[in-house]
Amino acid sequence: MDKRDSILAATRIAPASPLRAEISVPSDKSLSHRAALVSLLAEHPVTIRNYLPAEDTLATLNAISTFGARVERKEITVQITGAGMKNIPEPSNVIDASNSGTLIRIILGIAAGLGRFSCFTGDASLRGRPMGRVVQPLREMGAEIVGVGGGEMLPIAVLENGGGLRGSEHVLPVASAQVKSCLLFAGLFADGVVSVTEPGRSRDHTERLLQACSVMVGIEEMSSGGRKVSVEPPGSLRVPGEIEIPGDFSSAAFWIAAALVVPGSEVLVRKVGLNPTRTRFLDILRGMGADLEIRGAGEDAIGEPVGEVVARHSPLKATTVNPEDVPGAVDELPLLALLGAFAEGETVVRGAEELRVKETDRIQAVCEEFRKVGVEIEERPDGFTVTGDPDRGIRGGRASSRGDHRIGMGLAVAGLASKEGVEVEDLEAASVSYPGFLRDLASISCR
Ligand code: S3P
Repeated sequence: MDKRDSILAATRIAPASPLRAEISVPSDKSLSHRAALVSLLAEHPVTIRNYLPAEDTLATLNAISTFGARVERKEITVQITGAGMKNIPEPSNVIDASNSGTLIRIILGIAAGLGRFSCFTGDASLRGRPMGRVVQPLREMGAEIVGVGGGEMLPIAVLENGGGLRGSEHVLPVASAQVKSCLLFAGLFADGVVSVTEPGRSRDHTERLLQACSVMVGIEEMSSGGRKVSVEPPGSLRVPGEIEIPGDFSSAAFWIAAALVVPGSEVLVRKVGLNPTRTRFLDILRGMGADLEIRGAGEDAIGEPVGEVVARHSPLKATTVNPEDVPGAVDELPLLALLGAFAEGETVVRGAEELRVKETDRIQAVCEEFRKVGVEIEERPDGFTVTGDPDRGIRGGRASSRGDHRIGMGLAVAGLASKEGVEVEDLEAASVSYPGFLRDLASISCR
């Protein structure tokens, strides 16, 4: 039984008075994973500042230490001493990726590149998620991989074969940063160029970080809206000695949404990642009439755009989220159930079938759970439709995170904006990506 199966307690989130706050959100999850994973491959110690101390990213630190890295963590500063790409030993134990799709996909790429015997598993949610999308292309590159359902699901083992992956070209059926990153990391160990073409533009943190490690990364924008990314195997990685991670835009999105729907609110989110492959949510919100401001935009030392976001309460109108919007807003889409409830008219999310293979089937979970708190929402095969009414807004009631951090936090924000309050079952799930979520929720909503 997973730890959360035994937790049935609910947390009541009361309707809030105007939110007037400046807030720093926890560090970026995607970047924390990637920084730790390149540090495993580094020839010298790497210090990561503002590392995310959440369940998913702590699982990554455990995973790299099982692969022989020395990991010393003092709160959000982590020093990692890896063994260099050529000397990483056979892992000493089974690697448990916990709830993290990013960790399992990228580390399978590294393990395949190493060609050392290694076994992987995860929690019940991760064991239900598709792995064939990385196993298949890794096999085409020469990896030997076995697993449940022929390698479609965890547990999975990479067999000893001495590595030696082949340079290869991959065309992905869906835009997925996890799959792309798996293949780019595997490509570091290949005998020739590895290229990945995706039909949309998924987040490009891996490309930027590998470039900061002096890897030759080619990027070709396609007129179709897709992108072809290639890596040349570098022999060794020149990882920067220090990497500082900005705040996570996907965590900031909860407070941005809260400010928009709680009357009289103005919230400023301090230094947060604003990589354009992550911020389509802001464009969607602007299309709904949101009052948003970006301040102090710049770029950090590893080439990631950062800045501050100010969001103010705004009358919203309905919108349609189209398939091309999905990769750049994939983790924020559940919040459209909440925002759509306050927007005049029908808000439609289309082309988002990928949500069905996240930590939960997020299309089903969003529809069933937000309906319980009074949102008029209908499931579509590829998304959902919300019929909004600013006067009705959200009534309130009791709903469950279903163990999915983003569903839980979205329901909590619904509570702040509701008429009667929302009781969220298993809001502890927030700790997968947002340690201290309840503390920040209390501080943002106190008068
Ligand atoms: C992530 C990629 C996204 C996102 C996930 C983190 C990453 O998934 O949903 O939370 O760090 O690469 P995709 O593989 O659908 O892009």
